[in-house]
Amino acid sequence: MSVTLRILENLTSQNYSGFVRVFSTSTALLHQKKAIVLGIYTEKKQENVINKTETSETYDKWLEGKLTKLLSLSKPIESGSSRLFFGTTEKCSIVSVVSLGEKNPQKNNNESLDIRRENIRKGIAAGIKSLKGLGIENVEVDVTNDPTSAAEGAFLSTWNYKKSEREKCPLSISPLNSLPDNETPLNGEDIVKKWEEGVILAEGQNFARHLMDSPANLMDPTIFCEEVKNKIESCGTKGEIKVIIRDKTWIEEQKMGAFLSVAKGSSQPPKFLEIHYTGEQNESTNPLVLVGKGVTFDSGGVSIKPSQGMEEMRADMGGAATVCSAILTAARLNIPGEVIALVPLCENMVNGEANKPGDVVTAKDGTTIQVDNTDAEGRLILADALCYAREFNPAVIVNVATLTGAMVVALGAGATGVFSNCDEMWTKLNEAGYITGDRVWRMPLYELYSSQIKPAHLADINNVGKGGRGGGACTAAAFLNHFIQKETKWMHLDIAGVMDNAKQEVPYLGSGMAGRPTRTLTEFIRRFNE
Ligand code: BES
Ligand code: ZN
Ligand code: ZN
Repeated sequence: MSVTLRILENLTSQNYSGFVRVFSTSTALLHQKKAIVLGIYTEKKQENVINKTETSETYDKWLEGKLTKLLSLSKPIESGSSRLFFGTTEKCSIVSVVSLGEKNPQKNNNESLDIRRENIRKGIAAGIKSLKGLGIENVEVDVTNDPTSAAEGAFLSTWNYKKSEREKCPLSISPLNSLPDNETPLNGEDIVKKWEEGVILAEGQNFARHLMDSPANLMDPTIFCEEVKNKIESCGTKGEIKVIIRDKTWIEEQKMGAFLSVAKGSSQPPKFLEIHYTGEQNESTNPLVLVGKGVTFDSGGVSIKPSQGMEEMRADMGGAATVCSAILTAARLNIPGEVIALVPLCENMVNGEANKPGDVVTAKDGTTIQVDNTDAEGRLILADALCYAREFNPAVIVNVATLTGAMVVALGAGATGVFSNCDEMWTKLNEAGYITGDRVWRMPLYELYSSQIKPAHLADINNVGKGGRGGGACTAAAFLNHFIQKETKWMHLDIAGVMDNAKQEVPYLGSGMAGRPTRTLTEFIRRFNE
């Protein structure tokens, strides 16, 4: 009896941490530190038919139909789940089979995303996660359907803030492109390029996750600037990319009174980070300007937040993290066009100098602001950054901020809320979210909300709405809108709801800060410059 057949007879199965594992009682082969991930489709109507991807079909033939046989031993794999087989043959001893859902899923208008791509991200992530903790060093992944989405699923799912957790995952993950005993490529040449694009997109989001999840004592405004600068300098990019770190004196010269009023409540000095990217072969056009909220810790200030959950406010620089990561990723992908990122960074803390409710401060454009709630600090620092953005004659301004708790209530982790004065830009962003699966949803910019913040009793505008708690995300957007000139195309992305992935809303992201919507911003930059 051949070794492989004997192993097949010895197969047993058990449930282990949510994954069904089928393993061989023969231990000799388990020392090999290599695994493959193979995809199958699970059709809703024909659950019992094992419908393989091209690569899985090729492997099954090479394995003389063993894969089909093993799969038919137990019930079908659900979409987005995996099943592990140990000891299939000597040359291919650990196989994780994943379901990529239906082969040709129908478009579902309710979902606003490409279901096929999203299923690949979920399925490949499940396959990689099933190998966690097994000491496997190398994994090759079936990329038949879409190498970019497969790489996104693989590299987003292995990231964790803690290095010790990251190290439990396979160190090297690459596309599966040949049979074990044959060098002939299974897929076309472009799969490596597409896979690498997915790796770069995932790495961009993972960098934003690192910036966001870092404890606030290890990610203050100064450290944030240094880390971003170092990262940009270490990732060789073809286009030109320049990082300028402005200090407090520059911020004072700019008369950014609203930003400074927040920063003065903390011992940490504020910074204003500027990144200029000019892609290759770019005709001179007006730039796309990204603005990100960079509050490295938001205690609420004198209007202090409840202590429960306050630790999450280390990620209140999610806007800053995602715009910096998106511009870096655009540069790494060599996307043409001119993009500028403007990032005000400070802490919102409480000392003897901190803003007091009712204080009046003056923004860069002369607007006076009554600060009735010191916890509505994001809009204060963004107001000055939006005024500064005017100096670059932007083709469009896109600001990104973990701005309101009301946004968390409205959409949760389902989508980023977007307020825009421009249908064309909104459509481009929506299309980008459809491709990346990191969705956006349009919110209103009605005059009603503007009338709830101005005029203020002591100043031109109030930093909180007088309509009570209702529509908090919308009054915040109306506040920012005040600093946008009528003719300027503008989008405000409130990312408070998508800040973390605590409830595993996105199965291919682990828990912790999500780095959303870095990939959607990057895809928007690409589409904007097409
Ligand atoms: N950073 C918070 C918003 C936030 C809340 C982000 C939860 C992520 C998760 C922001 O600075 C804030 O505190 N906003 C206040 C505004 C209010 C005082 C008008 C809020 O939403 O409660
Ligand atoms: Zn706040
Ligand atoms: Zn905040």
